Amino acid sequence: MNYQFSNRISKIKVNPLRANARKNMEHPDVISFAYGFPPEVAFPSKQLSEISQKLYDLENHETFLQYGPSEGHPEFLTALGKRLSSVVNVYDSDTDDLMVVSGSTQGMDLTVKAFCNEGDIVICEAQTFSGAVNSIRAYGAEPLAIPMKGETIDLDLVETALIADVDHKIKLIYLIPTFQNPLGTSMPLADRIRIYELAKTYGVMIFEDDPYGDLLYEGEPIPKIKSFDTEGLVIYSGSFSKILAPSTRVGFLVIPKMAYQMVLLGKQTSDSHTNQYWQLVAAKFMTDYDFEAHIEGLRELYKEKFMLMMSELDKISPDLMTYIRPAGGYFLCGKLSDALDTRRFYDYLIAHQVAVIPGNVMSVEQEGFDKYFRLNFTKPTLTEIRKGIKIISDALKVASISSSAEIFEQEAM
Ligand SMILES: Cc1ncc(COP(=O)(O)O)c(C=O)c1O
Repeated sequence: MNYQFSNRISKIKVNPLRANARKNMEHPDVISFAYGFPPEVAFPSKQLSEISQKLYDLENHETFLQYGPSEGHPEFLTALGKRLSSVVNVYDSDTDDLMVVSGSTQGMDLTVKAFCNEGDIVICEAQTFSGAVNSIRAYGAEPLAIPMKGETIDLDLVETALIADVDHKIKLIYLIPTFQNPLGTSMPLADRIRIYELAKTYGVMIFEDDPYGDLLYEGEPIPKIKSFDTEGLVIYSGSFSKILAPSTRVGFLVIPKMAYQMVLLGKQTSDSHTNQYWQLVAAKFMTDYDFEAHIEGLRELYKEKFMLMMSELDKISPDLMTYIRPAGGYFLCGKLSDALDTRRFYDYLIAHQVAVIPGNVMSVEQEGFDKYFRLNFTKPTLTEIRKGIKIISDALKVASISSSAEIFEQEAM
């Protein structure tokens, strides 16, 4: 058969993260800083099995085995709404509605589906979550990569792009303002206000992707962009993947009321509804257990790993690599000094069985960021962090010695 695939699907780039995820799981000897996985000890298995048992003991337990509403299970939406208005401060039931989605990946997909035509443009941080970039391309829209300036997308360049967009092709601004993936950075409040004002001035929606927002280890939380959305410009996206378990595939969107129905229509042609069982488990965890204490436990667990990784990295000379210290989340991003030989750096890591994510993978164009590498600090153990960062440190030295030798060779020629 000569398959004729759609232009839409042909534009999507193979995601090496997904392709390699299985391989990584099959190699226990590798110290992996690569994937954004929680460690197994983070799963509240005891509570989940208790909840599960109770759900099956309910007389009307067949209800969660039945088809359910696309918007979400009412019990889940009520529990979630309370948490989002009181703890996270991104939900006001007068102006917004909640929608469950099958992982926040689907939330981005549905948003692009609802707002973008083929040829439309979505502004993105140049280094960003590859899943979102693929969602944009899947609908024939184009991601416009704007470089970072410190911890924020370059706002002057965003403004320039918006001014130049006389045909109003820019429909969305996709941002991960808190504990960015891959950079670990957080946009300061003043920048959040400025980008919101830009969106308002130019009539563009913002998609605030926030799967890591609860995982703060240092300093004070920064208000979400959604918290000052008075104009219905921001769709806020959250997930239970990093605070409960990724396999639940329970994520959610906070959507301005006027936009809600169109996004919902998109969901109905996509999966009709999200897994009801896991919505109920998440709901019961929020109502019958101390969910905030569980999250506090995750913060403590990850903070110890985070602090260790920082202290190990701080032993490395800034002549070899630099990084911006995150305040929370799952990742940080190292940057090799310009003089270092990137290929030798990776060859050394592969030979010594340490896995990291090369910067180009987590970028819109999959090029231009070969000096960057992303490190996850939640999945590896403390021992693996110590051992793995030592190997990274050695790899940097090898990459620097070799490149100096090469320069010497070239100069001698
Ligand atoms: C920024 C960002 N958005 C969305 C996701 C996807 O999350 P989910 O598991 O809820 O689909 C991830 C996962 O790694 C992510 O890093």
